[in-house]
Amino acid sequence: MSGLEKRYEGKAKILYATDDPDILLTHYKDDATAFNAQKRGSIAGKGEINCRVAAHLFKVLETQGVPTHFIDCPTPNQMRVRAVTIVPIEVVVRNIAAGSLCQQTGLELGTAIAPPLVEFYYKNDDLGDPMLTVDRLLLMKLATPAQVDQLRAMALKVNEVLIDFFQRCNITLVDFKLEFGLRPDGTMLLADEISPDTCRLWDQGETDPNLRVMDKDRFRRDLGNVEHAYQRVLERVLAQTAET
Ligand code: TMP
Repeated sequence: MSGLEKRYEGKAKILYATDDPDILLTHYKDDATAFNAQKRGSIAGKGEINCRVAAHLFKVLETQGVPTHFIDCPTPNQMRVRAVTIVPIEVVVRNIAAGSLCQQTGLELGTAIAPPLVEFYYKNDDLGDPMLTVDRLLLMKLATPAQVDQLRAMALKVNEVLIDFFQRCNITLVDFKLEFGLRPDGTMLLADEISPDTCRLWDQGETDPNLRVMDKDRFRRDLGNVEHAYQRVLERVLAQTAET
């Protein structure tokens, strides 16, 4: 990436400045981390798969009226995005109990959650991304009350669109994490990525609780066949997009 100024390097992506101050170039990496980077590894081809999955999902969401930072993909593992100031809140939506929800509440894995649960976490690696209450995030001035309402409404809209999209891929959308950003005029855009790194996705064609996992839990929990699972998500997303 010679010639381009690196703006930010995260665990899964690098952001570069471009000639246009309004546009950034995102490079998706094969690097994988879990448990706040205590576990590190690499998933061959992940950068390209996640970039292509995210691009397709952003396009689907745009057609359904969700504004996103996505512009286009100049190469398979690079995405041009509109520059935004990231709101330091990770918004998690849950349709089925899994992961930290089960660990922290004792709810059984697979319990249906209706209506969906929306949770806020502080995007701060030094603090281990702790869960926030609305009162805490207002206290910390991470968002205004109106922005909190907007984050919740946009996250629920994304959930509606993606549940339906993944259903057509024969995949159950268990839960996922979103990030949002603000344009200089205050407009809120869906940002970051939506991919097997940031969602729990269960194959509806498998009943075995380990075999059905098509997402980063394969890496987190050493279930094996990580690359293959990511590849299958991409194939189903591409096939579905071609049909719509
Ligand atoms: P959790 O059950 O570990 O709280 O995760 C909820 C969802 O958020 C799951 O789909 C994975 C995703 N997630 C991220 O994308 N990044 C993270 O750092 C964490 C902890 C979860």
